[in-house]
Parts: sequence; C-alpha cells; structure tokens
Amino acid sequence: MITFDGVTKRYADGTVAVDHLSLEVPTGEITVFVGPSGCGKTTSLRMINRMIDATEGRILLDGVDVKTIDPPTLRRGIGYVIQQAGLFPHRKIVDNVATVPHLLGWDRKKARDRAMELLERVGLDLKLADRYPFQLSGGQQQRVGVARALAADPPVLLMDEPFSAVDPIVRASLQEELLRLQAELNKTIVFVTHDIDEAVKLGDRVAVLRVGGHLAQLDAPSTLLARPADDFVREFLGRDRGIRRLSFVTDEGVRLRTDLTVPASAEISSVRDTAEPWLAVVDEENRPLGWVSVKDLPESGTLADARPAPYGTFVRGRDSLRAALDATLLSPSRSAIAVDDSGRVEGVATREALDEALDKVAGGAGA
Ligand SMILES: Nc1ncnc2c1ncn2[C@@H]1O[C@H](COP(=O)(O)OP(=O)(O)O)[C@@H](O)[C@H]1O
Ligand SMILES: [Mg+2]
Repeated sequence: MITFDGVTKRYADGTVAVDHLSLEVPTGEITVFVGPSGCGKTTSLRMINRMIDATEGRILLDGVDVKTIDPPTLRRGIGYVIQQAGLFPHRKIVDNVATVPHLLGWDRKKARDRAMELLERVGLDLKLADRYPFQLSGGQQQRVGVARALAADPPVLLMDEPFSAVDPIVRASLQEELLRLQAELNKTIVFVTHDIDEAVKLGDRVAVLRVGGHLAQLDAPSTLLARPADDFVREFLGRDRGIRRLSFVTDEGVRLRTDLTVPASAEISSVRDTAEPWLAVVDEENRPLGWVSVKDLPESGTLADARPAPYGTFVRGRDSLRAALDATLLSPSRSAIAVDDSGRVEGVATREALDEALDKVAGGAGA
C-alpha cells in the first residue's frame, strides 16, 4: 500500500503543485489520478519514487517513509512508464528491456530471455526485438516501455499518461492489454491521466484532483459516476455521465422474454396471427439469425425465407446495461437479443424490460 499523508510540494518559485494530499493506494489495485492539466498529477507520482521530494508530509510504502529509502533501492521496486516511452534511442528493443535485469546482475543470456518473455507478454511481435526504437510505432514503443518497467518484476508500477500520445484505437488496445496483464500480475499501479474515460475504464479506484493537487473525490468508477462529490467533479465527468454509468451496471436486472424467438424452420403460417410486431429468428443451434417484421412476412414458406434483418446482441451476465441498450439501437425491433457465452439465445430484452431496469438504476442513484 502507498500512503500519502498530508503531502505538499512547493517548487522553488513558490508554486504549490500539491497541497496537503492524503490518500491511500491499495496493494494489487489500479488507482488512477485524474484531473486537468497542471493539477499536480505528475508531481504526486514522482514523489512516490523520489524523483521529486515532498516539501511537507510523508509518503509511505507499506508503512515505510520513502525518504528513509535510498533512491536506487526504492526505484528497483517501482517500475515507471512515461508518455513517450523514454526508450534509449541507440539500443535495440530487446536491450532496452534487458538493461534493468542486467543492472541487477543477471547474466546476458538470462537478461535477454527475460526481456523476450516480457516483450511477448505485452503483446509485441518478437520480430521487432532487434530493431531500434525509432523503427517502431508509438503504440509499439509504449508496449516496450511497459515491458521495461516490468523487467525487475517490481511490486509497484507508476504510469504517467502512458497512452496519451497514441491514436484512440491503439490506445484502446493498450488499455485492454494493461487490464489483461494486471489480472495476471496484480501490481500496485498508480496510473495518471487527464482522460476521464481512460480513468473509469482502468481504475479500481479513481482519484479526481483539482488544480493545486487537492483531492476532489476518491471512489470506485461506478460510485464516481453515480454520485459526484461536487460541481467540479460533475463537470469533469462530462455531460454523458449518465450513459457512461450504465457501463458499470450489469444486465442481470433485465427481464428477458423467451416467447419472442422462433426457429428458422417454422412455417410462416404458424406465426402470422401473433400479436407481436417483431420476432427473433434462430437457427437449429439456437443462434440468432435476425428479426422479422410479422406484417411484412411473405405469403408462404418458412421463416428462413423471410430474410431476417440485422440484430444487436449482448452477452447475458457479462455485458453491461449500456451494452444491452446499445444492442437495441442496432435492431429494427428496438429490442436486444440476449445470448450466452457461446452465442446461443437466452431471450429477448424488450424496450419495456430495459426501461424497468433503467428505472431501478435511476431510483438507486438519488440523482
Ligand atoms: N519544476 C517546476 N517548477 C515550478 N513549477 C512546476 C515545476 N513542475 C511543475 N510545476 C507546476 O506545478 C503544477 C503541477 O504540475 P504537474 O504536476 O506537472 O501537473 P500535471 O501532471 O497534473 O499536469 C503546475 O502548475 C506546474 O506548472
Ligand atoms: Mg503531468
């Protein structure tokens, strides 16, 4: 655990970058520091590994004041990743990663093996290992930066806007990769970003900072979105806070109807008199084929002949309420098809059922 205990940083010119910050970063979790530019995120992060020393207050690492640990020893247990990866330009990728194990006294072969293993772990094509940093894309360089930070297997990882300089698609895949890695590694991670979407996606807990390094709120993303502490946080979360909140609500409260699905082999004549305007057609393995509009069905034949129209699905028990709502927008029936992990239909979530689930969420938020 990392503890900030009344930490203040006053720079030589009198700027108070961080003002009496107190918070805890739990072991094995991702804690995100988010806030506008200049609010003291980088300063706070660098005080942990003593690249910057606090003016007042204490930072404790598992109860030990970092000021009592000499910086090289301290940093051996703390990986550090920055925006432009910060790779050594004249060293090959593999050597960039092997540098730290090498410094720890590992022999060349062992250090290199470890580097290759890590490069693979962060999802880098090993063909790139013998290239130089300038020969890699920004996203690939960031992966190398993460691999290098993990090289000494430190329990703590500090990440300062590591994905901010890459395009949105690459950023999303780097974020996924980090979550996947973290599920295996359980590092204590402090992740700095100015991007609230990134914060709520990655953080087990999110600390919203305002200028001057003041802590505005520290909560789990779902709580943050449901109950912002004040106007500053509310504004920072943005206007689509309500929709984004639904990403953290499971679909399990959504009632499913099982009477709206019909097999493709069924005769059209058997469904023509139903009162339902839309039916979901499934194949013999109970996988969705799409929607048919009952009033537009052909004269005869089976439902397969009716050429079912596109559909949206969500995975029952895994996807969020937001995913279920999104699926309705992709369906002409405005209902979403719920499938299990193997893609088989469990039922249909109608707009009425989703409205009921939304009412429960709104009722529980008190906002
Ligand atoms: N070396 C420095 N000397 C003086 N002021 C600084 C220095 N580094 C940062 N600052 C100021 O401290 C404040 C916080 O900076 P920083 O921690 O970099 O914020 P963030 O990472 O949230 O953008 C800003 O006002 C910044 O201008
Ligand atoms: Mg910064």
